[in-house]
Amino acid sequence: MSLFQTKSVALLQAEASGDQRLNKTLTATNLVSLGIGAIIGAGIFVLSGQAAAQYAGPAIAISFVISGLGCLFAGLCYAEFAAMVPIAGSAYTYSYATLGEFFAWIIGWDLILEYLFTAPTVAVGWSSHFVTFLKDFCGVTVPAHLCNAPFDVDLTRTEYLNLGLFQLPYHPFVSTGALVNFPAVAIIVFLTILLYIGIKESANFNNVMVITKVAVLLGVIGFGLWYIFTHFAAAKANWTPFIPANTGVDGQYGWSGILRGAGVIFFAYIGFDAVSTSAQEAKNPQRDMPRGIIGSLIICTVLFITISLVLTGMQKYTQLNNAAPVVNALINAGAPAALRFVVEIAAIAGLSSVILVMLMGQPRIFFSMANDGLLPSAFAKVHPRFKTPYVTTILTGVLAAIIGGCLPLSLLGELVSIGTLLAFVIVCAAIIVLRYKQPDLPRPFKTPLVPLVPILGILICGAQMVGLPRDTWIRLLVWMAIGIVIYFGYSRRHSKLNNAAK
Ligand code: ALA
Repeated sequence: MSLFQTKSVALLQAEASGDQRLNKTLTATNLVSLGIGAIIGAGIFVLSGQAAAQYAGPAIAISFVISGLGCLFAGLCYAEFAAMVPIAGSAYTYSYATLGEFFAWIIGWDLILEYLFTAPTVAVGWSSHFVTFLKDFCGVTVPAHLCNAPFDVDLTRTEYLNLGLFQLPYHPFVSTGALVNFPAVAIIVFLTILLYIGIKESANFNNVMVITKVAVLLGVIGFGLWYIFTHFAAAKANWTPFIPANTGVDGQYGWSGILRGAGVIFFAYIGFDAVSTSAQEAKNPQRDMPRGIIGSLIICTVLFITISLVLTGMQKYTQLNNAAPVVNALINAGAPAALRFVVEIAAIAGLSSVILVMLMGQPRIFFSMANDGLLPSAFAKVHPRFKTPYVTTILTGVLAAIIGGCLPLSLLGELVSIGTLLAFVIVCAAIIVLRYKQPDLPRPFKTPLVPLVPILGILICGAQMVGLPRDTWIRLLVWMAIGIVIYFGYSRRHSKLNNAAK
């Protein structure tokens, strides 16, 4: 069988409506909430300030606009697919229908980079917020060897792996002396148990976290606007120059800095696409998937742009390079101490829901791949009582806990971004392919202005990929090479589509 054999959309639709094993309980509000739950996290609470300080200055707001536009274009493409093929596999399934099995495997393998690695990345951030909170407000100090990764990447040294034809440069791992990042492991285990018990319970927990973080962010905006109106001269001074002049180094301020900033804060937007992995558990996916994806993305984009403006108005951008820029800017602007407490709680709540939705997305991708025979059939098992894909939920939890407990943030964050950007580029391309190959398929939601919107999505997301460091590219290629070996060693021989064609 050809590597590029596709699975027909009609077959996928029949599978989606015939498979009643997962509970169909999610409403449009739940889906928007899942999207916001996955989006608002470390990106806005931490990276926004750091990217303003290092790359874009107050123009970080423009970086948010650029990155948000790339996501909006990709989101419109996701929405068309998610309404048309409401299956848990997200971009993996969409590629199976358009570009063929091999590409589907590649994208499925790539999505593992996104979901399986975002959860521990954010868990490491959660751990440091939680440890700070315990110290500042409860007087409890967690020993350093129990809240840090035992390994780190030594950026000062470069070593070479001899691959015969060429030498592969890499930065070696070093031991930090720590034992394990225990809080990161603990939050992953707790959320995995919740996901094992049920999608409805998980959605309810997520709703509470989302309400907390959105309410507090609105409070931050309210205070920030009050500060800006009452201290306009100070805010104007902080915003001047809005686009600091480039220092002569590529990416340090000026327009190249704005673009570099866009690549960094792209992480803040990751998550809206995770809504599509719950398509099989939505009550009315044709109508509600586009609402969940686009709705959550628009709400977060508006919040992000406003917060970035308020942040750089309250404090000079040069002083925002720290682990808690939102909290520190508030203190600098004279906010009451209680607000700091509330923002810390919101960050902890916010990060938990990001981890939750990512830990929810990954098992559903595994589940779809196993249903197609590309992964062992045990991965497609559904719990008889809880109606959750429990085998893959446990597997995801264990892998994420190991990664989060052992690896540092510096390694994880950019790897997640490059994997996600690649998924967005492929989904945009797949929309164009399917419009030409099968123009008459019923599409409950249509991406507007095809091919312009997907092409712009490909260009903006592709440009952000190009801006990521060489090490991240090498890790992506190594990850993909491992995936290709597994495909030819196992998946191709076990593929249901492949065996049916024989
Ligand atoms: N968008 C998510 C965050 O910022 C991944 O934490």
